[in-house]
Amino acid sequence: MKPTANVDEREYVLGTGADELERLGLQHRLWSDAAHQAWKSARVQPGQRALDIGCGPGYAAFDLAQLVQSAGRVVGVDESRAFVEHLRAQAAARGLTQLAGRVGDVQKLREVLAGEAPFELAYARWVLCFVPDPGAVIAGAAAALAPGGRLVIHDYFNYECMTAAPRRESFTRVVAATARSWRKPGGDPDVMGRVPSLLAAHGLELERLEVHQRIARPGESMWQWVASWWRTFTPKLVKLGEISPAEERRFHEDFDGLRADTDFVVLPTVFEVVARKPLR
Ligand SMILES: C[S@@+](CC[C@H](N)C(=O)[O-])C[C@H]1O[C@@H](n2cnc3c(N)ncnc32)[C@H](O)[C@@H]1O
Repeated sequence: MKPTANVDEREYVLGTGADELERLGLQHRLWSDAAHQAWKSARVQPGQRALDIGCGPGYAAFDLAQLVQSAGRVVGVDESRAFVEHLRAQAAARGLTQLAGRVGDVQKLREVLAGEAPFELAYARWVLCFVPDPGAVIAGAAAALAPGGRLVIHDYFNYECMTAAPRRESFTRVVAATARSWRKPGGDPDVMGRVPSLLAAHGLELERLEVHQRIARPGESMWQWVASWWRTFTPKLVKLGEISPAEERRFHEDFDGLRADTDFVVLPTVFEVVARKPLR
């Protein structure tokens, strides 16, 4: 798949190329246990309607489509035409007629979802941290939900807690550069700190607030989450001018030198929210 511009031609910081498509697939595999646990607490059932906000290539949406089954419906929304085309092609190949993709800005869900009936579930994973106006996303999700429907969010607060242990200067610098690169186009690696008040402002009741704090050691499957992240993202940091090629080289030397018997990486904490739209 070739990199393709997003709908508004704004350059999304992580990109939408083949490297990111593959990384998102691995990421979903490694984090799907948390997604399924959260969907269970949101009581996802066959026959329901689910919305995947910022669905990317559709990895979570494929699972949701299997959970709601053919009597239900899943709508994935993403600004990347290439990702939405991937979702549609996979939905067709897998016979998931209940899964549809819409290209659009998640900050304008009312427009994007015009004509759609209300949803029992809305899911937003790792998208609020990249948008300038997360309140607009939550407002749109609240409007899209049926009374009693639930919004589930997985996202970051204190992303910069990610560290190599023992600490490495090169690692700390690259993590700080990453947070800067998200903030510049209007994202917020601390967004989950604002979410509870945004939910309340848009009439949603917070039912569950949890964290998933994990570490990864070289050789473990979760190690591939950090390894694939840095493999794909440090070249982007160099291109953005956030780190120099020398800093990138130094980082990868240090990263590749981390040892399974003595070293580990503290992963960025993933926060989980389940919020409910009141019945009236
Ligand atoms: C890190 S990916 C996560 C994808 C998916 N939620 C997942 O967990 O696999 C973030 C996604 O948000 C999308 N995105 C970022 N800003 C957006 C916006 N304003 N409107 C729609 N999609 C957006 C990107 O195109 C990308 O697919």
